[in-house]
Amino acid sequence: MGFATFNRRQWALTIATALGVSLATAALAAEPTSDRQPKRSVSEQLRKDIKEGRVKLTEGDETAVQELIIKRNIPIKYDYINTLMRTPNAFGTGAACVTCHYSADAVHSYRGLDLSTCEGIRRGSTEEPKRAIFTPGEPSPNKSILGRRMRNNRMPLGVSFATPHESKNHTLVNDWIANGAKDDENFRKNVLPLFKQKNAFGANTPACTECHMSNQEPPSFHELDLTSHKGILLGADSVAKGVDKATKVIVPGKPEESSLFQHLVEDRMPPGISPTENRDHPNTQILMQWVRQGAKCD
Ligand code: HEC
Ligand code: HEC
Repeated sequence: MGFATFNRRQWALTIATALGVSLATAALAAEPTSDRQPKRSVSEQLRKDIKEGRVKLTEGDETAVQELIIKRNIPIKYDYINTLMRTPNAFGTGAACVTCHYSADAVHSYRGLDLSTCEGIRRGSTEEPKRAIFTPGEPSPNKSILGRRMRNNRMPLGVSFATPHESKNHTLVNDWIANGAKDDENFRKNVLPLFKQKNAFGANTPACTECHMSNQEPPSFHELDLTSHKGILLGADSVAKGVDKATKVIVPGKPEESSLFQHLVEDRMPPGISPTENRDHPNTQILMQWVRQGAKCD
């Protein structure tokens, strides 16, 4: 790929700048007033937390972003989001978002999605189906359309962007969920076998059950068992989180809200990004935090 690399050093610089600015702003806001208890600046609080062993920094950008920015709720400025949208390799190797989503004109810009302005990002896709790609302030933006496109690899893992996602087999899964995701003859004869079959959702792809075969990880990714109706309805991480809190992958009656179906039809952005690229890239975490904080334009 011919993109200038947004390498570790540039990343460190960007972070340092963003952090420096935010720390200064927060420090100003924390000026002690006569009638209130003096507030600590974020820098002072950080030094205190480090001294008392409350900060766990390992090497790499990821924990620094978690510990210093996300956990301390440092305000994310639109200015930084604007930079990310225009920067190649900002979320892992791939073209800048605005090369493909730069205006509301769907003739030239995919989904009529304008990621080049704050209003455009908040408006979302203007081509049918018209829709917002997140709700400002939502607590779990990883589940929004934007969060999914940034973090979820299409399944089967490694399937090419060029593989159609409207095949007969995709339709069979869609209709099964739409009709209530029942354990009936149609499911046993036409749907369950698809998850055990090679090439069912794209040429040269492994069967789902090669990676999702039981509730035990390893070997089964996300403790997801796609070998039976019970396993599929139970969902992911039933051992780690407990059966009651397992991540549901099916919402009966609603394919578009079912993570299993979303994973079959939605490609991670930017198109062609390798599934091995970090799904919790520091910049993805910052983008999600901006949404959580209300996706403010100032
Ligand atoms: C090389 C072109 C290209 C680049 C770069 C790109 N996208 Fe996309 N994007 C697409 C295509 C193609 C689709 C799917 C359109 C369709 O399904 O009809 C899409 C779909 C989306 C959607 C789904 C919209 C909806 O209504 O469901 C979102 C969100 C999105 N992209 C965000 C991004 C973000 C954020 C970036 C930068 C990390 C990005 N895209 C980079 C081409 C691109
Ligand atoms: C080569 C191994 C592999 C294959 C084959 C595979 N997956 Fe996955 N799957 C993964 C990995 C790894 C993850 C988690 C991380 C990611 O998205 O990269 C995952 C995550 C998922 C999730 C999200 C689970 C959660 O915690 O919410 C679903 C749903 C899913 N896969 C469904 C499928 C389906 C359906 C198929 C077959 C079409 C399939 N997978 C094939 C490796 C695989």
